[in-house]
Amino acid sequence: MLKTILVLAAGLLTGAATAQETVSLDEGSRIARIGGCHDCHTPGFGEANGDLDPSVALIGSPVGYQGPWGTTYAANLRLVAGDMSEDDWVEYMATIQSRPPMPWFNLHYMTESESRSLYQYIVSLGDQGEPAPEYVPPGETATTPFLVFVPQMPQ
Ligand code: HEC
Repeated sequence: MLKTILVLAAGLLTGAATAQETVSLDEGSRIARIGGCHDCHTPGFGEANGDLDPSVALIGSPVGYQGPWGTTYAANLRLVAGDMSEDDWVEYMATIQSRPPMPWFNLHYMTESESRSLYQYIVSLGDQGEPAPEYVPPGETATTPFLVFVPQMPQ
């Protein structure tokens, strides 16, 4: 009995370790979802209640986010990943810093296998499309639609 339990426990532990280290496109697709990357980097994703249109997955957003940092646009990740090797991407995820509302600090917690899976998913997405609009510094006029991220006081 005890032996059976030990064998089962060992099996579970090995299983868990293997699952965590899996590098695959499917795993990358899952990480893009749970990491929230589509929320900002895939146009129309939130509006479609998470029903992903693969033709625009992670292609960047034409709608800006405006705040004290200026106006930023969620980048076209197909172009960003397409321009670097898988090893460079792993390094990039571990060290990236960018402007709001990009939650860059969370990316530093990705494991190497997770970064590799995400890279493989992104480069599998096909046609790289156009870059997102350029960053606009504070005080300069944005020429696209944008959302304003400024806390409002109750009237
Ligand atoms: C809340 C919205 C939001 C979420 C969620 C988000 N991003 Fe971003 N991301 C942005 C914005 C906006 C920028 C542009 C920031 C800037 O201009 O500095 C950006 C920039 C980036 C960049 C830099 C691109 C470059 O030009 O080098 C990378 C890489 C990136 N995001 C990856 C991710 C990944 C991977 C995820 C999911 C784990 C993610 N982002 C989730 C909004 C978001």
